[in-house]
Amino acid sequence: MAFSTLLRPAMLAASRSPRMERTITRMRTTKKLVDRFVAGDSADQAVTAVQSLLASGRYVTIDYLGEDTTEIEQARTTVTHYLHMLSALARLEVEPDTESVRPLEVSLKLSALGQSLPQDGHAIALDHARQICVAAEAAGAWVTIDAEDHTTTDSTLAIVRELRADFPTLGTVLQAYLHRTEGDCRELSGHGSRIRLCKGAYKEPASVAYQDRAEVDESYLRCLRVLMLGDGYPMVATHDPALIQAAQDCVESTRRKPDEFEFQMLYGIRDAEQRRLVEDGNHLRVYVPYGDQWYGYFMRRLAERPANVAFFLRSLKPG
Ligand code: FDA
Repeated sequence: MAFSTLLRPAMLAASRSPRMERTITRMRTTKKLVDRFVAGDSADQAVTAVQSLLASGRYVTIDYLGEDTTEIEQARTTVTHYLHMLSALARLEVEPDTESVRPLEVSLKLSALGQSLPQDGHAIALDHARQICVAAEAAGAWVTIDAEDHTTTDSTLAIVRELRADFPTLGTVLQAYLHRTEGDCRELSGHGSRIRLCKGAYKEPASVAYQDRAEVDESYLRCLRVLMLGDGYPMVATHDPALIQAAQDCVESTRRKPDEFEFQMLYGIRDAEQRRLVEDGNHLRVYVPYGDQWYGYFMRRLAERPANVAFFLRSLKPG
């Protein structure tokens, strides 16, 4: 109880504090824990992790870390990193084992592409995302737009709608903790639509988001049913055993085939379960983040689990 009411909100608040970021990123002891969740600082390290995941039958979605960009130059640099990564992925020459599902994908945060810039942020992020979609098509990779805090949801979904006219396979993320999401699932569950459903990782007010874990899980189940009954391609992003089982039940009752949905998990979390799902004949995609702007992502991962926080705090003790 104390974790979800006190510690988790505190960790999530810290994830957006520049002062905490300066302190925590300077600590040498943090790095070992970061390495569990982040595939490396460089594109080469990320590609090595990708090759090993592909060799084990898993698919990947690669995220160049960074968010809340305040400088246009920084947003442009992020685009360059994605273009560089996509040409490295194209060189891997991955053979899809099915026509309809692409093993390679990149995930984008629009705030890293300029969405939160005070002038023309929306248009700049749209233009940057478009450049990445063009390169991804050439590389045979999918693109999915991540979900960030609720103040960005309308702008993000508007960009997704606009880009989907030219890139119909573009995916997006919906967060079950938001009150609005069941409605968004209904609207976006049509033919060709790829929706990654997750619980949601940001600190949100009660006016827009369920605060109680049980309520979030119930919302996830309602959204999951809408997506599974729809005509799109649901991407079930969770490590929660109860929700994974519920998804499998839904697949059975809606008679979806293995190529008509996928599971997704984060790099470094529940590796044995990832392998089990692949062995059982499912598509399983791993979200692989890389780059040196790991602070916000890392803090959200710590905030998800009391054991991670305890481990982190223990690592701060000298000796
Ligand atoms: P829950 O947090 O209840 O965890 C269930 C179990 O999984 C835990 O008991 C533990 O065993 C394991 N686990 C979960 N998190 C762990 C961690 N950090 N370390 C160790 N074990 C852990 N969110 C968002 O707001 N926008 C987004 O775009 C995305 N994108 C995204 C992509 C993918 C592929 C995934 C899997 C998740 C996201 N998320 C996200 C994050 C998501 O919203 C959520 O915060 C986490 O997945 C944790 O929620 P679970 O559903 O795993 O359940």
